[in-house]
Amino acid sequence: MDAQALKDNFAQVAQHGDAVALFFYSDLFLRNPGLREMFPIGMSHQRDRLLSALGRVVAQVDNLPEVVPFVRQLGADHRKFGVEALHYPEVGQSLIATLRYFSGAAWSDALARDWGDAYTLLANVMVEAADEDAKQRPAWWNAQIVAHERRRFDLAVLRVVTDRPLPYLPGQSVAVEVPVRPRMWRYYSMANAPRHDNTLDFHVRLVDGGPVSPVLVRSAGAGDWLKLGSPVGTMTFNERSGRDVLLIGGSTGLAPLKAILERIARSPAPPRVHLFFGARTADGLYDLADLTKRAADSPWLTVVPAVSEGGADGAEQAEQGVLADVVARYGLWRDHDAYVCGSPAMVDATVERLVGLGLGMDRIRSDKFADA
Ligand SMILES: Cc1cc2nc3c(=O)[nH]c(=O)nc-3n(C[C@H](O)[C@H](O)[C@H](O)COP(=O)(O)OP(=O)(O)OC[C@H]3O[C@@H](n4cnc5c(N)ncnc54)[C@H](O)[C@@H]3O)c2cc1C
Ligand code: HEM
Repeated sequence: MDAQALKDNFAQVAQHGDAVALFFYSDLFLRNPGLREMFPIGMSHQRDRLLSALGRVVAQVDNLPEVVPFVRQLGADHRKFGVEALHYPEVGQSLIATLRYFSGAAWSDALARDWGDAYTLLANVMVEAADEDAKQRPAWWNAQIVAHERRRFDLAVLRVVTDRPLPYLPGQSVAVEVPVRPRMWRYYSMANAPRHDNTLDFHVRLVDGGPVSPVLVRSAGAGDWLKLGSPVGTMTFNERSGRDVLLIGGSTGLAPLKAILERIARSPAPPRVHLFFGARTADGLYDLADLTKRAADSPWLTVVPAVSEGGADGAEQAEQGVLADVVARYGLWRDHDAYVCGSPAMVDATVERLVGLGLGMDRIRSDKFADA
């Protein structure tokens, strides 16, 4: 299987922009009208999650050991959409029809065979994982909001209680559906290490013009119900390394890092932890009071707040600058495990800087929030 040829082909097809998704979904729903109701009512380019992910994931078939854990989680997580084994060939057929259409003369029997093989391989992993998951867990959890705290005009910290235990690893996320936005699942990271009382915390920032985050930040309140999917994500705490830890979070990218921090705090002998928490302005450091309190109680923990647009009131104790620069000013971090979470730009810049400082990619785990 020539994975590079798949990647090149997908990149070439993607150049046709919105037309690709339009073709794919038209083909899919024309052949299988029953599948339409699984998808959101409006399917603009931005929300075209399946197709944009499909090519990217399937073309990573040359990197199996790395993608299989993620693909297994994805398969289990797809149960919440109502996806069953028989749907996989249907999606595969439309994927290949779409690729063939937009490849024009570049299409070949070899490409058709490789796409088919790669898709079937990953689809089988997803189906198998979903079957195993179905033996142990529900397709989704119901959760009721028990506390809703507005920390800023565009930020809320929510506590929910699930109707049954939801096992997950600190650093992971779940897809959330709010009743007024049916089938618009959005991922949010658990901001706490698992508790016995089935409560979970989420930090949600309102993204202007987005359909789901304004509902969670502005309109949701205690007593409201949500649906949660299976936990996903690979930015989990490396329990076995024993190395000191560097946590770097931009805005609500702090959430999964707090879960990791709580997990570390439960260790009998916690490693040294440096937590960098960044925002544009001082009032974006919405959780600094809690972090400062934790640092005061934990000699192994150092918290460094940073603001990138300096000069704001209340920022006196914060470092000035973007996180990548601030972190670099504080040390070399060569002997650390690093966890980085936030916007794609912040994560890319920070990871690049850490690598430049000599930290191996195998020591860096990251999650990007705007990239579903
Ligand atoms: C694995 C994962 C974990 C996440 N965890 C959290 C979390 O803990 N807290 C949280 O607030 N959000 C988190 N997000 C982002 C979240 O899923 C939503 O995208 C966000 O709340 C906006 O939802 P929306 O429906 O209003 O808008 P969407 O339809 O999701 O997005 C509208 C537009 O805004 C962009 N966008 C989305 N999120 C951001 C962002 N953070 N900054 C800038 N642009 C953005 C999108 O790319 C899109 O173009 C996570 C995303 C992923 C993939
Ligand atoms: C190898 C096969 C597949 C891969 C790699 C894959 C991957 C993905 C990914 C990464 C997402 C975005 C993350 C998410 O929102 O959960 C997604 C969304 C989705 N997938 Fe799949 N998927 C596959 C097969 C299928 C099949 C067979 C169906 C059944 C119809 C399906 C239905 C959906 C739906 C309904 C969404 C949400 C779309 C939206 O919100 O706009 N997927 N898929």
